[in-house]
Amino acid sequence: MSVRRLAPDHVQPATFAFTAANENWADQQIAKYPEGRQASAVIPLLWKAQEQHDGWLPRAAIETVANKLGMAPMRVLEVATFYTMFSLQPVGQHFVQLCGTTPCALRGAEALKKVCEEVIGPQSTVTADGKLSWLEVECLGACCNAPMAQINFDYYEDLTPENFRKLLDDLRHGRPTKPGPQVDRSCSEPLGGGETLKDPALFDGSMIGLGDWQKRITTQREDAIRIASEKAAAEAKAKAEAETAAATAKAGPTDVKTAPPPEAATPGRPEPSEPKQPAGAAQDTPSATSEAIKDTPAKAPARKRAAKPKSEE
Ligand code: FES
Repeated sequence: MSVRRLAPDHVQPATFAFTAANENWADQQIAKYPEGRQASAVIPLLWKAQEQHDGWLPRAAIETVANKLGMAPMRVLEVATFYTMFSLQPVGQHFVQLCGTTPCALRGAEALKKVCEEVIGPQSTVTADGKLSWLEVECLGACCNAPMAQINFDYYEDLTPENFRKLLDDLRHGRPTKPGPQVDRSCSEPLGGGETLKDPALFDGSMIGLGDWQKRITTQREDAIRIASEKAAAEAKAKAEAETAAATAKAGPTDVKTAPPPEAATPGRPEPSEPKQPAGAAQDTPSATSEAIKDTPAKAPARKRAAKPKSEE
């Protein structure tokens, strides 16, 4: 980044005044802003002052703008020194602003600086014929075509030391130049030509307005509906099968646990304990016990028989 300082005193004009036309233009710009906000017009007025004064801003022009807007001169100087669009030093008829930021540096901006120094001289100096001057600036937003330079109001991109040297020579001698990429590519498309959107049908109108485009769109819609329907049906079927499988898996173990034994489930059959009663135990049981068995639930005699061995002991 170059140092932003006012030009030395010996090149500063004593006074500056807008021309009548520019004064009128400045008043129109100021009128765009609400009362009390006239300072908002500081950048357009500085730009117009620079344009009137051979492309650079002297101290007197900065003070004139400050007086017109009711601003402190220091406030206007802050704006003028911040933006590199304002030149604080005299410039040549063709003012070269060479980008030196990283993308351009990686693509050869350093070599272009050497060309500037050889052809023009040190930064912020004007050639003896008044034709050229140069300044290194920060990114100018054309990194995809790096390295590049802005010369007056035009961008020159894809520069090499060779084509840049020729460009400066053409400018100096008034020969026509071609702004934009200095290699064989259009705008910022890839080197060697574009790689996408190459189908001529995209641009010749054959895809719309011609042919049976309504039928094609209708078919596309019908296909989309059919595919969506088939997909929904397949998903519903899969879901139903999964639910059935889950229910089967859940019901299987439960039936095994809760199913009654085949004997107990058979009505009318005698209690399993009755026929299995040991013959000896039945003979040892007194008749009163048989009476008690009649009045007791089916399993009571089993408990009674269990207690009998204790009494025998
Ligand atoms: S870095 Fe040079 S234009 Fe962006």
